[in-house]
Amino acid sequence: MYSLFRPLLFKLDPERAHRLTLQLVRLAGVVPPARWALQAMFSAPGKPVEVFGLQFKNAVGLAAGYDKDGVAISGLATLGFGHLEIGTVTPRPQPGNPGPRVFRLVEDQAVINRMGFPSKGAEAAAGALRRVLKGRRLTGTSGAGSLPVIGVNLGKNKDTSLEEATNDYVALMKTFSSLADYLAINVSSPNTAGLRRLQGRDMLESLLGALAEERSQNAPGRAGRLPILVKLAPDLSGGELEDALDVILHTGMDGVIVTNTTLAREGLHSRYQGETGGLSGGPLLVRSEAILALVLKMLDGRIPVVSVGGIMSPEDARRRLDRGAALVQIYTGLVYAGPGLVKKILRAV
Ligand code: FNR
Repeated sequence: MYSLFRPLLFKLDPERAHRLTLQLVRLAGVVPPARWALQAMFSAPGKPVEVFGLQFKNAVGLAAGYDKDGVAISGLATLGFGHLEIGTVTPRPQPGNPGPRVFRLVEDQAVINRMGFPSKGAEAAAGALRRVLKGRRLTGTSGAGSLPVIGVNLGKNKDTSLEEATNDYVALMKTFSSLADYLAINVSSPNTAGLRRLQGRDMLESLLGALAEERSQNAPGRAGRLPILVKLAPDLSGGELEDALDVILHTGMDGVIVTNTTLAREGLHSRYQGETGGLSGGPLLVRSEAILALVLKMLDGRIPVVSVGGIMSPEDARRRLDRGAALVQIYTGLVYAGPGLVKKILRAV
């Protein structure tokens, strides 16, 4: 079915196509017959896994960036995912970079984006989450039930200086700690000037230290400890990666997500390869697998790793899980293969 739909979508500007699919999924989520139809089409029995103390109905999640404001959670929940990562959410609303800011590299099965965190802000995303959670409570389902686990990916506002960045993340944590199943700390987007410097030892130490402190002081009204994951870039050197993991471990973080998009541009063939921004999809596979291997070796099983980047097929996902990733996430694969990719992966893993 997606093979019929894709040529039409690919005629649209990529960001318009994204908005259209997001709205369709959002609508499907609120119209019961449509929701049931999608559920019947896309749900597949997956193997439940427990990671970070959370029950996931399967190991496959939606990566951050598709539903930045959490507007389509109920619809996305019908597509078979074991978890959905909402965001990146910034504290205050901001428009992101001027367009065009998303490019399809069809020959490379890739995307370049320089969105720059367009966000309706924390309050809007929190409102959307509250509405979904009310439904979850009413239907008596938990993360292990019909709704997937919901993570919220956090980022600083563009006009917040790096020195003040910790305040942004702490404020976001206060907003989302009672609403999210886990938080993902995004210090790896290439599209907010300076953001990736937060991955450096000293800045990361003060940021994650403050988040650990906030978590221990203000235990919110939740049953268990709030898992905090840190999302890293694929462009860190071995030494930088080691430093970041060391800080992540000793500040008591619960997991690592590798990777975000890359600034590298090796071996591309498409006309948009010269665009500025983060590259995702097929060309990221080799780099993301290499980083996964490095991170698994360095962590030696102390905390779980979520693998993302260039997973375009069931085999790609199975390889990550076989090598030791606890969970996988996909985004660009959905653009090229459609939402049926989730079910195909679930059948293969
Ligand atoms: C992203 N990604 C992303 N990541 C993040 O942490 N916060 C974000 O807001 C976004 N936004 C975003 C927008 C678009 C258009 C794309 C394509 C990607 C990165 C994404 O979550 C993932 O880490 C990478 O895309 C690599 O995975 P795939 O796409 O190769 O499966």
